[in-house]
Amino acid sequence: MPKLTIDGREVEVEAGTNLIEAGKRLGIEIPHYCYHPRLSVVGQCRMCVVKIDGMPKLQTACSTQIFKDGMTVHVDHPEVKAAQEGVMEFLLINHPLDCPICDQAGECGLQDYSFKHGQAFSRFDYEEKRTYPQKERIPLGSHVLLNMNRCIQCTRCVRFTEEIAGTGELGLFERGARAEIGIFPGKPLENPLSGNVVDICPVGALTSTEFRFAERVWYLDKKPSLCTGCDIGCNLSLEHRRGAIRRYKPRLNEAVNDHWLCDYGRLSFRRYEQPRLLSPRIYGKATTWPLAIAAVGNLLSPLGGGTFGILGTGHLSTEEAFLLRRLSDWAGSPHRSVHRENGEPRSIPNLTGGLRSSSSAPNVRGAELAGLMPGPGSLSARQLVEGSGPTGFDVLLVAESDLGAAATAPEVVARLRTARRLVVAGWADGPLAQAADIVLPTATHAERSGTFVNVAGRLQKFERAFPAPGQARPALEVFGEILRRLGEEWPFESTPNLFDRMAETLPRLGGLRWRDLAGGGVPVDKEGGGGAA
Ligand code: SF4
Ligand code: SF4
Ligand code: FES
Repeated sequence: MPKLTIDGREVEVEAGTNLIEAGKRLGIEIPHYCYHPRLSVVGQCRMCVVKIDGMPKLQTACSTQIFKDGMTVHVDHPEVKAAQEGVMEFLLINHPLDCPICDQAGECGLQDYSFKHGQAFSRFDYEEKRTYPQKERIPLGSHVLLNMNRCIQCTRCVRFTEEIAGTGELGLFERGARAEIGIFPGKPLENPLSGNVVDICPVGALTSTEFRFAERVWYLDKKPSLCTGCDIGCNLSLEHRRGAIRRYKPRLNEAVNDHWLCDYGRLSFRRYEQPRLLSPRIYGKATTWPLAIAAVGNLLSPLGGGTFGILGTGHLSTEEAFLLRRLSDWAGSPHRSVHRENGEPRSIPNLTGGLRSSSSAPNVRGAELAGLMPGPGSLSARQLVEGSGPTGFDVLLVAESDLGAAATAPEVVARLRTARRLVVAGWADGPLAQAADIVLPTATHAERSGTFVNVAGRLQKFERAFPAPGQARPALEVFGEILRRLGEEWPFESTPNLFDRMAETLPRLGGLRWRDLAGGGVPVDKEGGGGAA
């Protein structure tokens, strides 16, 4: 592999690596606007210029690739600094000074580079700036608004729609000082990945219709999490203020979603806006956790097996499904299954061609891997949900009651209600919870931690972002307490602890440890992989 020197430090890189990426290996940031690692290189903004020994002029780092040993590059150099100041001065001549009302403030490439690479004064003596009248608020599509006055014409958005989405709705129209971004006539920005142009726009020219003015970004708390919109399992940053989720932003995982999220997943946190279960209930009356756990224990103790059923969903974490499997083993019941609900087909591009899914839940595969599969002679989840007549169960536990449309369909609720006793654990106070004898309020995925297995068989973890409201608790705690009440030794200690103990007993997890899941997850389900797009 070729070696080069940047600011006196040597680094070895794969042939063809450009200088921006080579600099990153050394922790040297070469400022850039138009370059994005997944888009074609256009060398437009000139912000990334560097000095290279033996070359008469400054060179753009984004378009300079390394193929042989011996290049000596200077980033921290007076000529480079003067050129960067010049680029910033030109960009700011026409840029509106509206940072106080701009959604991008706090995460803006222009603000950041002004501080780091700009100068504190302007030589531009004229009041008149180049503006685009009537083009401060142009809807490009349902999710994206353009303010042309803020655009620095880097064309990242145009290249994204051409090269990643493959839809080509955006173009750079006109020339010179009048050049502007826009859509082609009759072709709005309506592809399923459209929100990504807001993420890659380095300034506040493209803003999200949904997030616009919802929050100042410096008030947001961020936690690494996973999308629950389907079982591709896109990695994201869950950003909230005091427990109210404001937005999802993509988090890089080259094996899953690369730099992207689909529009559906990006807004999928809105499902948590339904009424919440905030306290346990017995026969419709609010109660305490000890009484609710005791009531479930009393229902199960005399059964001794046979007519106890568990209906889970793909929103259970792998660990929760594992504890439910223990519960059904304790009762000697084969009746355990995971409800699958198909959603719209989703797909996400990545470096190996992408992933696709048509599941509406993130973890059917993980719940089944943990053992929540029907035993001999048992009804499948589909038979249970879509069948007719009494289910025949003395006690039916519906766990993570978010059965999607099935949770609200009157015929499904009526069918599940035919169990002599119906116990529902979940976060949504919908028709199913209202029909239950015992209700156990549990946490959403933002309020608990755990793992999901995605469509390609990759086990990934998600972290708790904020505590659950009211008396709602992580389902792992609740299922652990029920097991303990029944004399089983699976007390809830912590998710990592339980994961490590679970992995010791599930051969497909091969003794993994929670800490092994840092850095983008681990492939565990070799039978997966059907999700390649
Ligand atoms: S709208 Fe944003 S991403 Fe598109 S060209 Fe302008 S600055 Fe670049
Ligand atoms: S592809 Fe699936 S997991 Fe990814 S953002 Fe969309 S809905 Fe979420
Ligand atoms: S990043 Fe190199 S010219 Fe824009």
